[in-house]
Amino acid sequence: MLDWTRELEGRLAPETVDHLLPLIEAATAPGRHGDWPRWQAALEQLPDVNSSWSIENGVLVAGDCLASPNDLNTLLSEFIPWRKGPLNLAGVPIDTEWRSDWKWNRLVSSMDLTDLRILDIGAGNGYFGYQMLAGGAQQVIACDPTLLFFAQYLAIRHFSGPVNNLLLPIRFEQIPPRADFDCVFSMGVLYHRRDPMAHLRAIMDHLRVDGRLLLETLTIPGDDDGELDPPDRYANMRNVHRLPTVTRLVRWLKAAGYVQVQPLDQTPTTVDEQRSTRWMPFHSLTEALTEEQALTIEGHPPPVRTTMLARKPK
Ligand SMILES: C[S@@+](CC[C@H](N)C(=O)[O-])C[C@H]1O[C@@H](n2cnc3c(N)ncnc32)[C@H](O)[C@@H]1O
Repeated sequence: MLDWTRELEGRLAPETVDHLLPLIEAATAPGRHGDWPRWQAALEQLPDVNSSWSIENGVLVAGDCLASPNDLNTLLSEFIPWRKGPLNLAGVPIDTEWRSDWKWNRLVSSMDLTDLRILDIGAGNGYFGYQMLAGGAQQVIACDPTLLFFAQYLAIRHFSGPVNNLLLPIRFEQIPPRADFDCVFSMGVLYHRRDPMAHLRAIMDHLRVDGRLLLETLTIPGDDDGELDPPDRYANMRNVHRLPTVTRLVRWLKAAGYVQVQPLDQTPTTVDEQRSTRWMPFHSLTEALTEEQALTIEGHPPPVRTTMLARKPK
């Protein structure tokens, strides 16, 4: 486990550290999740290797290769489902559900990350934070309350070594705002919020003046100012609330006070980008679409992800 005082001090203001320490302790307490002891046992058995990391053709490669990686393969299987990657941990390739490198490639050319201090909301296992550091960011503070993804982050970090990409196993809303991040990433989070405006306004409170928001969310087709509020599931996902057209998304951002609101990319998600693999053997996008893949199985427009860049005003 991490020495949280050491990890937080120097990265966050002393009052923030005091506020977060008990929250993190509660989030990682024994009994917090039925599988936490199993994941912790697997983490303790990870073999010693020379730590290092790099991004190679979109793959996060961490740790020197082992002579016989079979045992590691078994240990890393304890953390299934692996969703964000691709990864290669000490020579074991992990073909994750998502080709997250494709998402990254679509947006990286639009932003200069050099020396930025970044907050990554809903960071999963921290894959994108490594991409941000490789892209020149100075520091990434990430948050995600799903304990499995935190366990995966600890496994990745075991092989990468200490890194300036710190994943906090807590909700974004638990981090006190100090208006001190140069950039906030919120990718794949907005459509899970019942109140998207509250999320956009809360992000503004974490940004420094003239800081940038990179927002990625599901949108629906159409030029009108509309939205879809799925009455039940959307593409098999629970907790999907409001899917705007791009026009409405732009309006939300402006209403929340952002300026220089700029669509960067709009890409339909394909079954090549999100799919079942040996490391995520459960249902994926194929099972969430009709046979012709023209609609979700609930009869909604299929997933399209839109990325927007916006600024906090000067
Ligand atoms: C669809 S995934 C997106 C992951 C990644 N950002 C990406 O774009 O691939 C949404 C993530 O948000 C996390 N999440 C849910 N509620 C959250 C909250 N209140 N604060 C921070 N993260 C949250 C989930 O655990 C999940 O990992």
